[in-house]
Amino acid sequence: MALAPKSSVAKNVLNLAASIEGIEFKYQEMPMGGNALDLTGVPLPEETLLAATQSDAVLLGAIGGYKWDKNEKHLKPETGLLKLREGLKVFANLRPAVVLPQLVDASTLKREVAEGVDLMVIRELTGGIYFGQPRGFGTNENGEEIGFNTEVYAAYEVDRIARVAFETARKRQGKLCSVDKANVLEASMFWRKRILAIALEYPDVELSHMYVDNAAMQLVRNPKQFDTIVTNNIFGDILSDEASMITGSIGMLPSASLGESGPGLFEPIHGSAPDIAGQDKANPLATILSAAMLLKYGLGEENAAKRIEAAVLDTLNRGFRTVDIYSSGTKLVGMQRNGRRSIEVS
Ligand code: IPM
Ligand code: MG
Repeated sequence: MALAPKSSVAKNVLNLAASIEGIEFKYQEMPMGGNALDLTGVPLPEETLLAATQSDAVLLGAIGGYKWDKNEKHLKPETGLLKLREGLKVFANLRPAVVLPQLVDASTLKREVAEGVDLMVIRELTGGIYFGQPRGFGTNENGEEIGFNTEVYAAYEVDRIARVAFETARKRQGKLCSVDKANVLEASMFWRKRILAIALEYPDVELSHMYVDNAAMQLVRNPKQFDTIVTNNIFGDILSDEASMITGSIGMLPSASLGESGPGLFEPIHGSAPDIAGQDKANPLATILSAAMLLKYGLGEENAAKRIEAAVLDTLNRGFRTVDIYSSGTKLVGMQRNGRRSIEVS
């Protein structure tokens, strides 16, 4: 399913890469987020969730915009996204951050710091403070207004994300860093206890632990020390945005959200960039690379996924850049054109 312009660019790329491999997709496009609010009055219509759960994989465009920012919480596009993640039970969010040689100079970090970075943030996606109860607004004993949330993890939630993380690290460089705030938060102390318990099943993976404040610092000081990072929902939200900037632009980072079974959800980590909406300026690569993750992790179609990844590299090698990753000596193009380049070479 796809709606935003970027997703339609990604859909074209997906179709071409798949057709070369003899795969044919059937799409069902369903509204969600701002679009669904305009069409149906709710951010995640029941039909959309049903169609998503019945499909083999879900491709999602970015969802928000100024227009709906002031809506009540249950009518915000973000609420639809959280419901979709919850409904699909996609607890494991894989966010790879790779500094491509072609884009080293687009990174805000020095070349020698950014060059060669290849890390994977594994974010727990359906628990923690995003979903914990109790939550809400109220008044305290002094009659003052308060807002509150709960950071809570059950053992099974940590155990299952830990296993995804250890398995992923095993297929990469064999190094896993678990990020928490176990010097302060009970939920983090418990997180660490469960990570250590599951580690016994993976003696071949080198495990380390880091407090989130230190991890935020280390990511810009020496990101190459990281291979695979596993962390809770909110720390993963923050650290993955930080990691994306190492690669040059948040417009580059795809993500895959996976559950135990059932369809995965594939979406760029960036928002809908309402400040540049309709100007054909956005970088389509995060969504296109999300389509590659859909092929690889969602459908097991590695060859078609590799075609898309190669096409993206080829497009960059030919010097085509959207404005967020533009540097002098390269060719500035809009989103549609950049997407088309990827199609032409896939
Ligand atoms: C992300 C986004 C979402 C999140 C928002 C849009 C709800 O920031 O996917 O990282 O916080 O998870
Ligand atoms: Mg985020």
